[in-house]
Amino acid sequence: MKITDITPETKNLYFCCLEDWSEDMKEAGDGKQKWYDAMKEKGLKVKFALDNNDVIGGMIQYLPIEHSMYEGEKLYVVLCIWVHGHRQGRGDYRKRGMGTALLEAAEEDVKQLGANGLVTWGLIIPVFMRASWFKKHGYKVVDKSSLMRLLWKPFNDKAVPPKFIKPVKKPGKGDGKVNITMFRNGWCQSMNITCERVRRAAQEFSGKIDLQEYETIDRQIVKEWGITDAVYVDGKEIPVGPPISYGKIRKKIAKKVSKVKI
Ligand SMILES: CC(C)(COP(=O)(O)OP(=O)(O)OC[C@H]1O[C@@H](n2cnc3c(N)ncnc32)[C@H](O)[C@@H]1OP(=O)(O)O)[C@@H](O)C(=O)NCCC(=O)NCCS
Repeated sequence: MKITDITPETKNLYFCCLEDWSEDMKEAGDGKQKWYDAMKEKGLKVKFALDNNDVIGGMIQYLPIEHSMYEGEKLYVVLCIWVHGHRQGRGDYRKRGMGTALLEAAEEDVKQLGANGLVTWGLIIPVFMRASWFKKHGYKVVDKSSLMRLLWKPFNDKAVPPKFIKPVKKPGKGDGKVNITMFRNGWCQSMNITCERVRRAAQEFSGKIDLQEYETIDRQIVKEWGITDAVYVDGKEIPVGPPISYGKIRKKIAKKVSKVKI
């Protein structure tokens, strides 16, 4: 197995999170490419893990904390580590040491870049990025928010603990229309798919929806709201993890629209 950097030839595989077989990915729009183009100028790094036949099985993306959704300085953040675990496409590459090798390569890289530590996030439930997996690799919890934990591995005494950005305000209910407010950073394809579906569903009820879209790649917006990736329908946050199906989103909006008094 070996670890390599992203190249122009492997960029598209990164944009679809190694899921070149996925129909969902076709609905993600171009938000990730745009985010990548902006962030690579600001220090975003992407690495792949390849098996002995040079097939890519895993990836990691990390960037300076100033350009992430967390607060801190002179630290890098792992936005996502992902070892392909589906049967489709390239198949299941978990439990072969790729995750460990990717994390270690990122740590080594950011040390060389002069960072004081590496930060990541994890959930306390066994889905997505798990806090427990990072703890096994020496990461300590430094902040908490609901089921999410912010973890870090400081490299020296100068490292200052990072923090979650705290919510400042929430979108409200619409007036004579259903208010849909989307906050999207662009880094996560799951969020991008959901946002594209919300936008499409909102168009079906045109005239009855007030759609607000915020691109949280702009730190001023994050400062104002304290929100980076979320969708609100009439002030209520839609839970997003894996992309929500178009049918589910449409149903939620239709229900709200039916209650609007004009
Ligand atoms: C967490 C994750 C990165 C780990 O990747 P991985 O490649 O399976 O990790 P490793 O192989 O290094 O370690 C996993 C386990 O395999 C074991 N292992 C490592 N090499 C092995 C080998 N050659 N043979 C058998 N087992 C091995 C390790 O001991 C480890 O055991 P543990 O479960 O007791 O810790 C991966 O499971 C993943 O991608 N999860 C989903 C994360 C996600 O949702 N990301 C997107 C968020 S937006």
